[in-house]
Amino acid sequence: MRTKGLSRKAVLAELTKAREQDLKYADGKILCSMCTEPHPMAKKAQQLFSSSNLGDPGLFPGSRRLEKEVIKNLASLLNGEDCVGFLVSGGTEANLLALLAARNRANVSNPEVVLPESAHFSLTKACKLLGLKAVRASLDASFRVDASSVKKLVNERTIAIVGTAGTAELGAVDPIGKLSEIALNHGVYLHVDAAFGGLILPFLKNAGSNEAAFDFQLKGVQSITVDPHKMGLTTIPAGGILFRDRAILNYLKTETPYLTEDRQYTFVGTRPGSSAAAAWAVFQTLGREGFEKTVKHCIGLTERLASGLKALGFTLVAEPTLNIVAFRGVGTKVLSEKLREQGWLISYVPRLDCIRLVVMPHVKRWHVVAFLENLNAIKEESF
Ligand SMILES: Cc1ncc(COP(=O)(O)O)c(C=O)c1O
Repeated sequence: MRTKGLSRKAVLAELTKAREQDLKYADGKILCSMCTEPHPMAKKAQQLFSSSNLGDPGLFPGSRRLEKEVIKNLASLLNGEDCVGFLVSGGTEANLLALLAARNRANVSNPEVVLPESAHFSLTKACKLLGLKAVRASLDASFRVDASSVKKLVNERTIAIVGTAGTAELGAVDPIGKLSEIALNHGVYLHVDAAFGGLILPFLKNAGSNEAAFDFQLKGVQSITVDPHKMGLTTIPAGGILFRDRAILNYLKTETPYLTEDRQYTFVGTRPGSSAAAAWAVFQTLGREGFEKTVKHCIGLTERLASGLKALGFTLVAEPTLNIVAFRGVGTKVLSEKLREQGWLISYVPRLDCIRLVVMPHVKRWHVVAFLENLNAIKEESF
């Protein structure tokens, strides 16, 4: 810590320098992130509520109202009108809270959780923290969890089954309807990790079909993770956890004697009211129509990218369900390195030997065209 403070101008100059080192979504070269440039209204709201703390909500009733309204909006999108929930630090905390609730509710010794092989690593972290044994269910040919594998792994120690609606690597959506049946038949808690897909799937054309159901309309689903700071176009941090039933909160309650409210249900104590304000501002500004337009944009470009990749002779790992494309060809790893050298921020997934691209709202048509041209040039030159 310096002894004497700097002038505001000098501090701002340093901040600007650091910010310039950060990559910018607007450049269109970030194709590996599940976050995006926040909506301008989210940024405004975040500034306006920068001092608000949802950890002490008696002091910030306006912010608390906005959080409740955001949760209500998410609940209505996910067909869970009577849900309760919170805005938390991200999908990791949301998944942790879900498994904590499930573990405390079941109260069995040597507890186990059935996780798809494709489950997000935040669930592995949660299992480590909560003393849960993660048993892994295998995937089918389209990288969705195999429901028969899940069924075989359920036993008297199982405290929860997890399904993913939009896996981080491929955007695959597990057969949540089948998992719901298994959960109901065995009296086991089902948590759906829709951190990414939860703000995409409700806006897709086939959203109303039974086949596509992944949310609270399925009776076995007890909780859902859905993150506004991914496809919700809001500022970081904004994860979301929704529970079907208020009674579940008893398994999460911690007494908080000196605050304006005597209990909390989240891990994080001091929580940014600005996250609630920012998500609220985006939901109000865009409405369902705005989200539908955003999702249509991303899915349209994903299709363009997928057909372009095929035309260049690459193989898709799976047909995209959401706005994620993964592909491979000759020398995929080398190709990924060369793409990075040329400034494309893409992920290489060693387990699947593929390059993964996430088509977020900051990606525009000309970025996709430029990417395909560049990819083709590298391919011609190197292979
Ligand atoms: C499916 C899924 N679950 C959970 C998470 C963790 O979310 P966060 O990084 O916000 O904690 C992610 C992050 O990408 C995700 O894709």
